[in-house]
Amino acid sequence: MTNDPLLQPYQLKHLTLKNRIIITSHEPAYVEDGMPKERYRAYHQERARAGVAMTMTAGSAAVSKDSPPIFNNILVYKDEVVPWMKDLADSCHEHDTAIMIQLTHLGRRTRWDTGEWLPAVSPSHKREASHRAFPKKIEDWDIERIIKDYADAAERMHAAGLDGIELQAYGHLMDQFWSPLTNDLEAPYGGTLDNSIQFTLEVLRAIRKRVGDKFIVGVRCTADEVLEGGLTKEDGIYICNKLKNSGMIDFLNIVRGHIDTDAGLTDVIPIQGMRSAPHLDFAGEVREATKFPVFHAAKIQDVPTARHAIASGKLDLVGMTRAHMADPLIVKKIKEGREENIRPCVGANYCLDRIYQGGAAFCIHNPATGRELTMPNEIARAEEKQKVVVVGAGPGGLEAARVAAERGHEVVVFEAAAKAGGQVLLTAQSERRREMISLIDWRLSECEELGVVFHYNTWADEAEVLNENPDVVVIATGGFPDTEVLKVGNEHVVSTWDIISGDVKPGANVLIYDDAGDHAALQAAEFMAESGADLEIVTPDRTFSPEVMAMNLVPYMRSLQKHDVTFTVTYRLSEVRKEDNQYVATFESDYGGIRKEKKYDQVVVNHGTVPMDDLYFALKPQSSNLGAVDYDRMINGQPQNLIKNDQGQFRLLRIGDAVSARNTHAAIYDALRLLKDL
Ligand SMILES: Cc1cc2nc3c(=O)[nH]c(=O)nc-3n(C[C@H](O)[C@H](O)[C@H](O)COP(=O)(O)O)c2cc1C
Ligand code: SF4
Repeated sequence: MTNDPLLQPYQLKHLTLKNRIIITSHEPAYVEDGMPKERYRAYHQERARAGVAMTMTAGSAAVSKDSPPIFNNILVYKDEVVPWMKDLADSCHEHDTAIMIQLTHLGRRTRWDTGEWLPAVSPSHKREASHRAFPKKIEDWDIERIIKDYADAAERMHAAGLDGIELQAYGHLMDQFWSPLTNDLEAPYGGTLDNSIQFTLEVLRAIRKRVGDKFIVGVRCTADEVLEGGLTKEDGIYICNKLKNSGMIDFLNIVRGHIDTDAGLTDVIPIQGMRSAPHLDFAGEVREATKFPVFHAAKIQDVPTARHAIASGKLDLVGMTRAHMADPLIVKKIKEGREENIRPCVGANYCLDRIYQGGAAFCIHNPATGRELTMPNEIARAEEKQKVVVVGAGPGGLEAARVAAERGHEVVVFEAAAKAGGQVLLTAQSERRREMISLIDWRLSECEELGVVFHYNTWADEAEVLNENPDVVVIATGGFPDTEVLKVGNEHVVSTWDIISGDVKPGANVLIYDDAGDHAALQAAEFMAESGADLEIVTPDRTFSPEVMAMNLVPYMRSLQKHDVTFTVTYRLSEVRKEDNQYVATFESDYGGIRKEKKYDQVVVNHGTVPMDDLYFALKPQSSNLGAVDYDRMINGQPQNLIKNDQGQFRLLRIGDAVSARNTHAAIYDALRLLKDL
């Protein structure tokens, strides 16, 4: 019997949870036609199999038709959801993992031009900055209808065999009633804090009538909006006690903050560079003030912090949600005494940012997440040992080396630089994004444990590679910055990499011409602004930094706005010429008819990378597959078997930016899917 606080069982009403680690409600947007189908089930089942005590599915499952999904949520207002949820519940229960779901009405936090094109509804006409809908002010018949919708949805989840539900009350309809900032109603649903809680109590009453006392019901709520004029901590604790004393709920899941803006959301769900567990003490205070079961999640990424949260009595159950996206096997590894092998969440927030952009949640660090039906988290050993040479020790090359070594192959890695990391080394130059280095460190330490041999400071050529007698060669040489974007004057510009690496000193009056729209431009801008440069970022796009998504943009803006950086959109830099120690930049526009000039003392260009592919093309004619990849087999997760050259002695695979400028996730996904069956 272990005495690890994290592994102690917990009794929640009649439900015995086998340990204290949970996954809090989140919607990875794997929903198909509004339903949680095979992919959804596989995602939760993988985590259940590895021992998480409880998984809370669906963020923000929609109880009503006028709460259309903002990121591909489950439609619990449909009866057909019951068998899908039952399959999902059964697959978690099979592994003794409890399962709940979060139900909500989004209120104004949605759009009217999706779903059934019904107006958004809220206790005031005030719009939410993030989703932009001007809501209809809620009427009595809406309230009646929505209360019934909650009860219907709860009954469906009960019928599906779930262990319980939680109601979302931070930024959604429920707490739009609570907050003085979003409730313009009079009695009985507005005017006083007690009135504003009426709606919630009526929903709970209706739910209890349908599901009885045994079903577990909780509320995930903000207990302090941290917003001028909003709910204070005193209000929050008052509401929590009121909910507890109603006798209708079984737990509180505590949130601190507001989510009506990207910046607010990012403070609620902190990303890399922000403090670890920033709201844990607050959640502990609520637990103390209510003496009621409290769950909480917010950047508790590592096991020692989670252990502290439980051991110190701040929480009853600790949420490690993104941590489980990065590594589903956390509980298994704790139990096996292999905590150091846990793939750490680096807070890159690729997962969450993608769903707000309309995509599915993928993890920058773990390409198997969301692809459990085809991609393994635990890699089986191959029957036959092969020799694999990897050229390039960036994230893609290291993933290739790790996966090949897990298969039991003999792996040699050549790296031109003195250490591993590739472009991640540049990213990690930023203090705020230093956590990214764990992408490299985790892979390096796994590789070292698996006996991978590294040759640093080695610019591997054809002969060096062939000398190893490889069965498989993986070219992961990455790319170099492309600054050749001008009609005239390319010789006068430097790259964002030059600035980030420190190879070029920032000027005083600088143009960053951002034709890629990714992190590099903003990262360079941050360095330059901090060094005192007067900065203008110009892009030919309609918006600036289109590849840097909502929550990742927040820390950049907090820094760049303080330095008064100017953003100019829709202008294309066409020429740069030198004049009196200054650079004259000529701008045109894709919309036509514009040509204007402006002077700077430095011009920095961000335009992605060009593949470093000389070695690939040198080896290609000698390879058995002539470099070709069978895309169908790659997509279907099957081993590569193309033979195009009978004389070829080795298979040649090219991955990541060595193929074309993409991102870290693309590089490691290339590596996993091409090598997992080798
Ligand atoms: C992809 C994704 C979707 C999420 N969707 C929801 C949601 O719909 N409702 C909710 O209450 N929280 C949602 N969350 C927030 C998580 O439940 C959790 O509070 C947050 O990720 C912070 O915990 P962590 O640092 O352990 O990840 C989501 C998180 C992620 C990563
Ligand atoms: S994408 Fe980043 S924040 Fe999201 S789970 Fe993966 S490592 Fe964590």
